Amino acid sequence: MTAETDGVSEPGRLMALSSVYELASAERLRALIEPASLYGGPQNLDLLRLDKVHAELSGNKVFKLLGFLKEFEASADARALLSFGGPYSNHLHALAALGCLTGIPVILVVRGYEHLPLTPTLQDCRRWGAEIVFADKKTYAQRYDPDWQGRLACQYQALTIPEGGQGIAGERGCAAIASVCSGYDQIWLATGTGTTALGIARVLSEQAFTGELVGVHALADQGALARSWQTAMPETIRWRLIDDAHGGGFARVSADLLALIAGWDQRGLALDPVYTAKLMWALQRETAEEEAEETAMQPRRLMVHSGGLQGRRGVKALA
Ligand SMILES: Cc1ncc(COP(=O)(O)O)c(C=O)c1O
Repeated sequence: MTAETDGVSEPGRLMALSSVYELASAERLRALIEPASLYGGPQNLDLLRLDKVHAELSGNKVFKLLGFLKEFEASADARALLSFGGPYSNHLHALAALGCLTGIPVILVVRGYEHLPLTPTLQDCRRWGAEIVFADKKTYAQRYDPDWQGRLACQYQALTIPEGGQGIAGERGCAAIASVCSGYDQIWLATGTGTTALGIARVLSEQAFTGELVGVHALADQGALARSWQTAMPETIRWRLIDDAHGGGFARVSADLLALIAGWDQRGLALDPVYTAKLMWALQRETAEEEAEETAMQPRRLMVHSGGLQGRRGVKALA
């Protein structure tokens, strides 16, 4: 049904929207939980393998997009989905895959000028039928401007999705992930916009979750996300945002990080260099500290593997 191309397979036949929503069912999610000990990881750690949700449409992006898909279905005039991102964007990659799988036209507004050859990410997107519109720096800077968004929505008869799938609809889509979080002392996940974490937190707060939500931030944003969570996070949720594991900034990849990825590759667990490898780095640091302190009871943890593996092709050593 699928053919491998540069490590990314081709979306096969069209999927009914009901089957796309099925990807996020609690039953499917439960089947994606694996003990980390399968890969030589610690006994008290489980992995939620969102990278395995679907061959092409994977990671936390699926969940955010499902939230927007619901809005699209409810919209009387949207005929297409349109969003914004960089040339290696996981979000745009997932959106193009969604369009290809569902037959919904997709328009991608990409930061920068067209450079040939296109990045592997954009090559996939174009092959999957997405229309790519390049936007120079000044134009792209308007991506949050409701007027520009409105003009694009009119021009393409599209529902516009904010960069990274951020926003309430994205949070609603991510709420599904909470169905497998109860019973853990800590839920660890990588953060960019924080949408995935907020979506999970909103549901957990209604379930009287007593554990802790631990975000590992992929951006160096001088505490901006942490400040916004002071008000945005439900009051009953215990949370922590680790702000010093970005390794110098977004998408910065050090030799140490490459070594960490190579080590997990050897044990059969692929991580991406922008989000999940940094998440794993922070988690390993914490478990090492606990071991050094001989902490009697180690918390039972769930680490959300949020995918992004297509982005490995943007790093020479991992391509
Ligand atoms: C692989 C991966 N993990 C984590 C994130 C962070 O998700 P969020 O922006 O919802 O915090 C993203 C996207 O931004 C991502 O692509």
